[in-house]
Amino acid sequence: MPSALDFKDQLKQQADIVRIIGEYVKLRKSGAQNFQGLCPFHKEKTPSFSVHATRGYYHCFGCGESGDVYKFLQKIEGISFGEAVRELAQKLGVPMPKMQFDSPAEQREAALRMKLLDIHERACSWFQEQLRKPEAAHAREYLAGRGLNAEMIAKFRIGYAPESGFLLRDRLRGEFDDELLKASGLFSWKEAGEAGAEHSRSGGRATVQVPPTAKEGLNVPPTYYSKFRDRIMFPICNEAGRVIAFTGRTLAADEKSGPKYLNSPETSIYSKSRVLFNLNHAKEPIRKLEYAILVEGQMDCISVYAAGFHNVIASSGTAFTDAQARLVGRFSHRIVVNFDPDTAGAAAAERSLALLVEEDFEIKVLTLESGFDPDLFIRKKGANAYAAALKAAPRYFDYLIDRARSKFPVRTPEGKVKALNYLLPHIQRVPSRIARMELAGEISQKIGIDSAVLAQELKSAATSRTSHSVKQLTSVQVTDSERILVRALATQSELHGGHTSTREGADEEFDPALQARFVLEQEPLHQGLTAESLLSAMLAAPDTDPTSLDLSEADRRLLSQCLLHEDEELTPELLEGAILSLRRRSLERRQRQIRAEILEAERRNDSATLSHLLREKIEVDRALNQSHPS
Ligand code: UTP
Ligand code: MN
Repeated sequence: MPSALDFKDQLKQQADIVRIIGEYVKLRKSGAQNFQGLCPFHKEKTPSFSVHATRGYYHCFGCGESGDVYKFLQKIEGISFGEAVRELAQKLGVPMPKMQFDSPAEQREAALRMKLLDIHERACSWFQEQLRKPEAAHAREYLAGRGLNAEMIAKFRIGYAPESGFLLRDRLRGEFDDELLKASGLFSWKEAGEAGAEHSRSGGRATVQVPPTAKEGLNVPPTYYSKFRDRIMFPICNEAGRVIAFTGRTLAADEKSGPKYLNSPETSIYSKSRVLFNLNHAKEPIRKLEYAILVEGQMDCISVYAAGFHNVIASSGTAFTDAQARLVGRFSHRIVVNFDPDTAGAAAAERSLALLVEEDFEIKVLTLESGFDPDLFIRKKGANAYAAALKAAPRYFDYLIDRARSKFPVRTPEGKVKALNYLLPHIQRVPSRIARMELAGEISQKIGIDSAVLAQELKSAATSRTSHSVKQLTSVQVTDSERILVRALATQSELHGGHTSTREGADEEFDPALQARFVLEQEPLHQGLTAESLLSAMLAAPDTDPTSLDLSEADRRLLSQCLLHEDEELTPELLEGAILSLRRRSLERRQRQIRAEILEAERRNDSATLSHLLREKIEVDRALNQSHPS
């Protein structure tokens, strides 16, 4: 009988590492056995990631990541070693022998994920089946009315969740136990005796079994029913095309039936911020066409895809995350952003665009005329009109300059200053100094100012980011909340010659600087960026050489970005919101760390650390669940 070692080694020998990694990274031959591409683990513009075909390993000269095919799969998919072996076996079409490679905890987690994938696959087929039933006539009519043909319905595996909340449950109950169905996020739970109280957290990350409550142990079993009822079901797939979640569109016109789109909660297999709708279909086209089209909604995505633009992905109505940007970035760093022109989406779009600039994307913005989302536009005006609109889409910075010119009268000196102040923060985000300076040149020409003045403005913002270090750039992203906190700190009296700069007539109780200090004392923003270091940086004279301050380059960048936006008023609400969201982010960071540490502890067979970590994980998960606004 072959041992575990034999199997994984044999499998590795069979695998063509260039082909496997090539599924994720565009590789070019650069020697007899050597291939090169852009590293998927850090942000770069010139390829320093290399794969050696016969030696079977990869190495990045930029960030130092290296390893074999298993290490690559583990890292890129965020899975355990055992899962990487399984994944590779699946990619190669080799059946897995009945053997285990994982430690017990890792095994349980992997088994849970596998079962959850099973449940989602079963549910997906079942929803598809329901769509064909007589009871679903209205759903089919709805889809036809939206111009979806059978081919697209099949391609996107669109289904229908019937009115009854019990059918899916009864179908799955025989095969999967309650705990799993709970963890799937597809059901709402109501315990015996509780009239209608829904356990909204039941679908949360159930990586660790929750002990049954006393209530559940009684004779009446808990009842649960489908979250998704009378909705068109769109499966959300991971990059590999496995169904990991759903979003369901209501068919009812009234508000009573819940939100228009209802999404699966976060589970062990689904993390909203790391998934892009349709990436499974779009990744190859994105690589071939060398750009991606980013839309907001899944219906927009499907319509654009159906019209023949296969390189389209959807953010599903939320602001882009850095994880999502890196995900697309593996296939291309060029993107056309086609968000809804409505004002509700404007703030989210602004944030997404800022993030894409920071992640070094070449961005174009497609703004359709008011009232048209991509879906409606294509249905009303056709694919050719959309192609033309895509082609005519301006570069993001041209779009911004145009906006500045139409917002402010750039003929007058005051108008120029306003336009400049409007553009400055956007320029500051561009990571490359050369690109920044080029932009400055263009802008000075277009709004008619001396380019030396603009260059000076850029310099005095104290962003000396010449030694562009990969780790720091990716670890620092100034969120709105961080900005608010730092600005609150900047109201400290020493900074203003002894006078506090809070609003006039503000109540005595509210001292933003004090609050910000307090928070920063407990939770420094980035490694070691404390209230003290921030204050000393702020108190330094403006012409101090920034490198002489005891601040990392990333911190200086953070600081200058924070102080560039002095526009919104610091209210207690604003500050409180910022603090909450910071806390959430720090919990999320800890959650990711713990996950990595668990894997590490399992590798070392360090069961003491492991149980400690698992306990901490429960706590962090719980704290996070509570901190999310529902
Ligand atoms: P829209 O309200 O613009 O809807 O939300 P849409 O995409 O045009 O949908 P249709 O055409 O009416 O079917 C944009 C996106 O925001 C998310 C969805 O991803 C949606 O596609 N959204 C919207 C939600 O997650 N929940 C909601 O209740 C509404
Ligand atoms: Mn729409």
